[in-house]
Order: sequence, then structure tokens, then C-alpha cells
Amino acid sequence: MPRSMRALIAVEAGEPTDVLRLESRPVPTPDAGQALIRVKATPVHASDLHVLRGRYGFSPEFPAVGGNMECVGRIAALGPETEGLKVGERVVAAAVPAVPGPPVAGTWQEYLVADTHRLLSVPDQLSDSSACQLAVNPLTALLLVTRELDVQPGRWLLQTAAGSTVGRLVIQLSRHLGIRTINVVRRRGAVEEIKALGADEVICTEDEDLVQRVAETAGPAGVRKAIDCVAGPVGAQVSQALAPGGELVVYGALSTHRQSDPAALTIPLQARSVIYETKTVRGFWLNRWFGTASPETALRALARVRGLVADEVLSIPQGRPFPLERFTEAVALAEAPAHGTKPLFVFEDGRDEDDR
Ligand SMILES: NC(=O)c1ccc[n+]([C@@H]2O[C@H](COP(=O)([O-])OP(=O)(O)OC[C@H]3O[C@@H](n4cnc5c(N)ncnc54)[C@H](OP(=O)(O)O)[C@@H]3O)[C@@H](O)[C@H]2O)c1
Repeated sequence: MPRSMRALIAVEAGEPTDVLRLESRPVPTPDAGQALIRVKATPVHASDLHVLRGRYGFSPEFPAVGGNMECVGRIAALGPETEGLKVGERVVAAAVPAVPGPPVAGTWQEYLVADTHRLLSVPDQLSDSSACQLAVNPLTALLLVTRELDVQPGRWLLQTAAGSTVGRLVIQLSRHLGIRTINVVRRRGAVEEIKALGADEVICTEDEDLVQRVAETAGPAGVRKAIDCVAGPVGAQVSQALAPGGELVVYGALSTHRQSDPAALTIPLQARSVIYETKTVRGFWLNRWFGTASPETALRALARVRGLVADEVLSIPQGRPFPLERFTEAVALAEAPAHGTKPLFVFEDGRDEDDR
């Protein structure tokens, strides 16, 4: 086991490329109930960048290791009271900090310690790229469609940013469950790709009216369930497009990626529609769900997602690998328009010699 490792550390809150430094840190030792994970791959989510900017739903103490959500790696060592796990086993660590809950180590480092009750074993057929993205976006898609909205087979589900990773997974899951989807994208260039995934309808806000197209598609019965991760005027149009009694779950605010434009963070609702048509708008945050679900419930949901990916019901877009040194490029790609693929920090195997 090496004594030190590389870690990508934010010295203070700020613009990620300004505050991140590649540093050497001691390899941590697992306590009782913990495993030391040799990280193999970990994604760069936009939410990881919001955390570093100090604009997310929680704030770490700085200096802080970046990457707060998820990774795949091999168990390098086990602390006491960790029966049932083996050194060398490949596992997903759902590092998503539970709210309320203890702070969790960042994932943008070569080794981290994790509570064993948050670890999920990974079958061989799952690539590192898929495994390291299992715990956030696929789980979010599953919880939104089933637990949050309980959309029934044959019914419509309306969603925005359908080209996002979550959006693509929602389309695939809905198709599997017999749910029909109306999918909103902002670029005409994305439409065919989204249709090819199994989308029933695609609305492009570049040249189409969202409310009008939803009405034409769903007819008099309308759409009663929707999810939105864009917010701002698009979120408002989604709430407007809902049928009386409809429910909208807001889970992101892509309208203003850097969360610096107050108008784009606002979703103007029509009081008449909310009151007289008794529409509901509420939020979903995976961190809060992790904070309230028992470890058994969380692992069960993760295992269900793992099964859906292993059975190829859900296909997680292949990430683009970057070494930690190229963090500036990885961060830029994570938020670039039409970025398509998600950047992943990957760590080569075979660096476990005791030479550092
Ligand atoms: N609440 C939660 O617990 C939770 C959990 C997971 C994810 N999320 C949120 O879900 C959202 C999607 O995450 P992801 O990882 O799936 O994203 P992603 O794969 O990085 O994709 C981002 C997508 O958003 C689209 N987009 C960006 N800005 C937009 C705008 N202003 N209007 C319309 N579309 C826009 C992009 O379209 P182009 O291709 O046109 O660029 C792209 O398709 C994020 O907001 C994320 O924070 C929330």
C-alpha cells in the first residue's frame, strides 16, 4: 500500500479551475465498519462544480477534496467489523452526502474510505464507466418516475432536458415500464437522437411552443405528471402545460448553470392555475432522500438500478476518461453546451507499489 496519493483539492470556494490544486495526501486508514477504496473511475457532475462554487445544497469545509457523489473502485483494505466483503472486490461507493448526515470524503482522489453499508458490489459485465455513474443519475431517474410520481403504464410523463443523462435514462425506464414520454430539448440537432432512444414525442423549444405542443400531443385528458431540471421560464411553461391536478417535480436548474442569474432560478407560477386547478410543484433532491432512507432501502434501490443496467434496460452513456492532471479540460467539458458525454476521472491500475 502506498503511503501517499494524489487528490484534487479545492483550497477555497470559487470557480473550480481557479481553486482546484492537484496535491499529495496521506492514504487514509479505514476505521471499524469502513473500507479503503482504490478509486478506478469517478464522474465530474455539474453539481460537483456547484459545490465547489459554494452554490449547492450543502457546503464542505475547505480545503476539500472535489467530487462529492459517486465512484467505482476496488476494496484495498478493510477495517474491523466489515464481514462479508473481500479485499479486491469491485464496488460502487455512493458517496452522496446524506442530509442531514456526516460529511463524506470527496471522490476525486486515488483512495478514499467509505462506510461498508454504503457499498454495492459490481458484476463483471458492468464497465467502470457505467458503474461509477450508477448511484446518482440512474437512481434519480428511477426515484422520480416510480417513487416521486408513481407514473402508471399508458400514462404520459413530460420531462425537460431530455438529452441529459437523467433524461435519457427516464426515457429508457419509461419505455420499459410502458409509460409514454413527452420530451423537451432545446436544440433541433438533439431531436432524432432522443427519438431513437424510444421517446414517444419530442418538443424542441428552439422552434416550437411547449404548451401548445403538449396540448396537441396529449389531447383533452392532458398530462398530469412532469419532471423539470431546467427551471426559469421553461419550468413555468411545464407547470402551465399540466392538466388540472397535475404534479411537477423540479430537480435541477440548468437555466443558469452557475446559479448566478436569479431570474433563471425562479419558476413563475400562475396562482389561478395552482389554486383553481390544484396543481402541485415540489422538489426532489437525492441527497435528502439518502438522508432519510435507511441504508438498507438505499442499497435496495441501488441494487434495482444495477439490475436494470446489467440487464441493458438502462444504458448509461459512456463517459470520457481524463487523468486528474487534465482537470481543467474535464471541468470545461462538464458544462459545455452539447457536451454529449460526461467527463470521468480515471486512475490506472497497478500503482499500488509501496513507492510513494
Ligand atoms: N435533484 C437531484 O437529486 C439531482 C440528481 C441528479 C441530477 N440532477 C440534475 O439533473 C440535471 C441533469 O443532470 P445530468 O448529469 O443528467 O446532465 P448532463 O448529462 O450533464 O446533461 C446536461 C443536459 O442539459 C441540457 N441543458 C443544459 N442547459 C440547458 C438549458 N438552459 N435549457 C435546456 N437544456 C439545457 C443539455 O443540453 P444540450 O445537449 O443542448 O447542451 C444537456 O442535454 C442537472 O441539473 C443535475 O444537477 C439533480
